[in-house]
Amino acid sequence: MTESLFSPLSLRETTVPNRVMVSPMCQYSTNDGVATEWHRVHLGSRAVGGAGIVMTEATAVEARGRITPHDLGIWSEEHAEALKPITEFVRSQGSVPAIQLAHAGRKASKTRPWDGSEPLSPDEAGWETVAPSPDPYPYEDEPPAQRAMTAEDVEDVTQAFVDAAKRADEAGFEIAEVHAAHGYLLHEFLSPVTNDRDDEYGGSFENRTRLVREVTAAVREVWPDDKPVFVRISATDWLPDRESWDLDQSVELAPQLAEAGADLVDVSAGGIHPDQQIPNSGPGYQIPYAEAIKENTGVAVGAVGGITEAEQADQLIRNDRADLAIVGREHLRDPYFTLHAAQELGVDVELPVQYRRGFDLD
Ligand code: FNR
Repeated sequence: MTESLFSPLSLRETTVPNRVMVSPMCQYSTNDGVATEWHRVHLGSRAVGGAGIVMTEATAVEARGRITPHDLGIWSEEHAEALKPITEFVRSQGSVPAIQLAHAGRKASKTRPWDGSEPLSPDEAGWETVAPSPDPYPYEDEPPAQRAMTAEDVEDVTQAFVDAAKRADEAGFEIAEVHAAHGYLLHEFLSPVTNDRDDEYGGSFENRTRLVREVTAAVREVWPDDKPVFVRISATDWLPDRESWDLDQSVELAPQLAEAGADLVDVSAGGIHPDQQIPNSGPGYQIPYAEAIKENTGVAVGAVGGITEAEQADQLIRNDRADLAIVGREHLRDPYFTLHAAQELGVDVELPVQYRRGFDLD
């Protein structure tokens, strides 16, 4: 049977009502990591807009793992409590609440994009960052203080993901996504560009992939059996001229992530180094990576990047190139992307009763 954008997706015991997911997007709008009214309205309105999955922005598993001091976090009970009303509301709209669990590694401790994304040192509201190797991200300005992770740090970070997953479950999330993309901590372990360790977490493919496999398995172990786990990866570093992470390695990794307990691989790209060369940033620019992983491994994938049109998203699913259409920036422009897509594709979906007149249904 041909699936379409409005076919439900079953993963474990979770049924997602359609194939649209709100891509995780940092809002940099918290008080010390605690969700605010902004998150309630932002995530809530995208659930009202009909997206099958509403995923939070990168949510830091420990304070050191924030990109900026304003990132969302889940490193304490207080953080989890603040997220509860959001998951309840998202669920009440028929959407599936999801959380992206994240650690920013060497890309932590910066100001917000609208304050220039400048590195912040420990004496100006920043903190010491941790990463697989001591080389900082090549910022134009002086980078924040950084150190290479010890074996104990590696254990602590894995434990932070586990504790965060437990809290996320208690807060009512149904999907946990491990963020291993965009040059943040777990991607930094995967890529030879940022990992020159000589212990069991560096060097060979097996060693560089060890931490993401361990974190995925550890999250899977505490995440209820009936709920799905996703992992977001960067399929390529877009650095073809040097030893780096590429699509072949992603194809090799995907089944290993599935083995570790991932139900879907969310396929993004890039972010490890400013020298990256993005070959194309037009419509659906990363879809071929998702498609290649799905075709070569049979692992369920989400495609993200330049998905902005109903027809385009529908064709993505109909042609079996991906299992989920993950929509980022278009959701900033249009919280009702899914309802508009249904209207455009002539699909009958349940609208919030309060909005039926706006869609000429009463
Ligand atoms: C992002 N992106 C992103 N990715 C991620 O994995 N975690 C995050 O927290 C963020 N934060 C974020 C904030 C903002 C404002 C933007 C625009 C993007 C990347 C995003 O999820 C998506 O992968 C890209 O934007 C590409 O998809 P679109 O926007 O072309 O649909």
